[in-house]
Amino acid sequence: MKTVRKPEKILLSGIRTTGPLHLGHYVGALSLWLPFQKTHQCFFLLADIQGLTTHFDNPERIRQSVTEVALDFLGVGLDPSLLDVHFVVQSMLEERAALYEVFQLITNLAELERNPTIKEELEQLRARKQSVNFGFIGYPCSQAADILFVTPLPPHHPEDELVVPVGEDQKPHLELTNVIARRFNHQYGKVFVPCRYLSGETPRLIGTDGKAKMSKSLGNAIQLKDSADVVTKQVMNMFTDPEKLRKGDPGHPEGCPAFQYFQTFAGADQSGRATRCRSGELGCVECKRELALVINKVLDPIRERRNKFEAQPEKILQFLRDGTEVARERAQKTMSAVRRAMRIDYY
Ligand code: TRP
Repeated sequence: MKTVRKPEKILLSGIRTTGPLHLGHYVGALSLWLPFQKTHQCFFLLADIQGLTTHFDNPERIRQSVTEVALDFLGVGLDPSLLDVHFVVQSMLEERAALYEVFQLITNLAELERNPTIKEELEQLRARKQSVNFGFIGYPCSQAADILFVTPLPPHHPEDELVVPVGEDQKPHLELTNVIARRFNHQYGKVFVPCRYLSGETPRLIGTDGKAKMSKSLGNAIQLKDSADVVTKQVMNMFTDPEKLRKGDPGHPEGCPAFQYFQTFAGADQSGRATRCRSGELGCVECKRELALVINKVLDPIRERRNKFEAQPEKILQFLRDGTEVARERAQKTMSAVRRAMRIDYY
């Protein structure tokens, strides 16, 4: 019997760095990550290569976004000064790219083509008449490498875990990740621990225009770094129940984005508000004014921390460098195990 080591508790999650982050990222991902800083070894990935799959013609934007996203991470309270919390720059990690290359061998084209998130994003790209490259279609496979490079390695402990808290749109990518992990283990010998998908109570925040998803490219996002004034304006312009034209009209909170935001940011039980909306007692203007206050209360401490770090660019670079180095050590060990298993460890 081999002596079994202690269980490893790993978290990896990430965000592509195509611009500053918004409330959708906060609700769907960032806020879920925070508590794990106390219990897990955390890797927070700044996915710049993934950003470049659709923005290869705008490297400056991706570069700047890495700093922006790092600031947003710090703003929400991720803390890489803790021993087990690491910010990782995707493109700086060559071993991750090597793992991606291996995973390409055991990923079927059909598995990428039927991925619903890829399908949805393809439609958006085509609507914008953007050409679609090979790297874009393959990014879910690349994302499997993002996740699995931090796998606990054998001899595994039954309680090892690799948790990936993300928004709902990432679920197909995590499913593919586990198909790849199992396929690798089956074909070459057990190296990988499959990951665990975790999402929050609001896996997808709708946009301020009532569209299905908050997204910078759709112009319906409230950014974490927006000033209180900008946030208030955005909220006051928000789409609300179209059948409620003036205060006395009976409203329909079920379909109203403002109401959903209240449930997300001010507690799930909003029955009092719903009653006042339905009866016509509560008008949309008053309701949105209250919502702006609620959202700014969430964003105030985020903006404050963000501003503090914005004045320390050297410190941010140091966090990125240190975190990526820790990730590199893990990725090297993972790649050694992969090479051994695949019989490509020649010397
Ligand atoms: N696809 C994610 C996004 O669009 C970013 C991402 C890249 C990611 N690699 C990851 C998320 C690994 C979770 C795990 O923002």
